[in-house]
Amino acid sequence: ASILVLHGPNLNLLGTREPEVYGRTTLAQIDADLCATARDAGHVLVSLQANAEHVLVDRIQAARDDGTALILINPAAFTHTSVAIRDALAAVAVPFIEVHLSNPHRREPFRHTSYVSDLAIGVVCGFGADSYRLALDAALGHLRHALP
Ligand code: DQA
Repeated sequence: ASILVLHGPNLNLLGTREPEVYGRTTLAQIDADLCATARDAGHVLVSLQANAEHVLVDRIQAARDDGTALILINPAAFTHTSVAIRDALAAVAVPFIEVHLSNPHRREPFRHTSYVSDLAIGVVCGFGADSYRLALDAALGHLRHALP
């Protein structure tokens, strides 16, 4: 199946961005790791990072028609602000897993609200770059059960 990974704003800076919060793994390393794991499991994984909300909305919309079976999304700051990303995910109805490197619930109160969690299959947060691995593992399990 085809898996889409979406990374929101500022995640292009991973590796140097507040390493005490987000770790030292770069986004390229995360994507390469996810790609290899998905390929070994017989799937195709593509990823996109965008700082602009509309780019993420457009890509989510495109997922409806391009055969995407599942989305892993770290909406980053848009998690806490974006009705537009929520509405796009609801509109396309492609199952998705929400991912965060940090655990937003142990951070500032404004990070405690997610506009997308209640639509997600599940949420993985707090494990640094491993959050993505754990989310992909969950995604592979979900696809095994969802596909014939
Ligand atoms: C984040 C958590 C968000 O609160 C923050 O705005 C981010 C990254 C995470 O992965 O921990 O940019 O989504």
